[in-house]
Amino acid sequence: MEDAEAREFSKKILAIQEEERHRISRDLHDEIGQFSVSLGSALSIIEKEITKHNLDRALHVIKDAKIILANTADKIRALFIDLRPAELGMLGLPSVLRELFSHYTKSYPLNIKFKENIGDIHIKEEVAITLYRVIQEAFNNIVKHAKAKNVKIDLLLKEGEISFTIEDDGIGFDAEAFFKEVNADKLGLRGMRERVDLLNGKFLLQSKSKNGTKINATFQIIEEA
Ligand SMILES: Nc1ncnc2c1ncn2[C@@H]1O[C@H](COP(=O)(O)OP(=O)(O)O)[C@@H](O)[C@H]1O
Ligand SMILES: [Mg+2]
Repeated sequence: MEDAEAREFSKKILAIQEEERHRISRDLHDEIGQFSVSLGSALSIIEKEITKHNLDRALHVIKDAKIILANTADKIRALFIDLRPAELGMLGLPSVLRELFSHYTKSYPLNIKFKENIGDIHIKEEVAITLYRVIQEAFNNIVKHAKAKNVKIDLLLKEGEISFTIEDDGIGFDAEAFFKEVNADKLGLRGMRERVDLLNGKFLLQSKSKNGTKINATFQIIEEA
């Protein structure tokens, strides 16, 4: 890479990281904010009901509060993986992805089909992190823009390549027009493409208005020394 190109590249990576941090801090802020409000009001109700000796009612609200706590703990756990996909190394990409998908099926009316043949095979960490980030952003977009019912994800190893596809059946968009225009606010799709390029992967995005969106990334598998 030429110097100027390398500088441009670092700038883009920094912008992507910054965007991710914003999203994570926004999510944390929202989750913790919501949790504090819900728990605060539950405690006030419990206090009031106990004062009035309505113990059944108080117990009921305690049960609700425990559910709120469990849900928040789940979401915070998902945010930790978000911050530190290094857990990928320990759990392996398929497990971490299953956890991400279960978070999405719990929070949104989405039907997710995941097919993989990676199992326990070790994937180079930078490829695993890139795949994780691409999938994460693809899901952000699906819940934010797509209005999809079904999402299909394939993660397949074959003939020295790892190929990943994510396909939704949502409203789609004009992908060609999007990549032609310059828009500094919309870094999601460009960030995906940059990340894949950075590892010499192939990135393909197909989308047509009303016809869903399909993203494919393929990497050569280079054995680790
Ligand atoms: N799965 C999808 N379904 C429909 N539209 C999409 C999808 N993914 C991306 N888009 C469209 O492409 C645009 C660019 O996406 P992105 O670069 O991630 O920016 P942002 O999500 O911040 O708007 C979105 O604003 C949206 O219009
Ligand atoms: Mg986006």
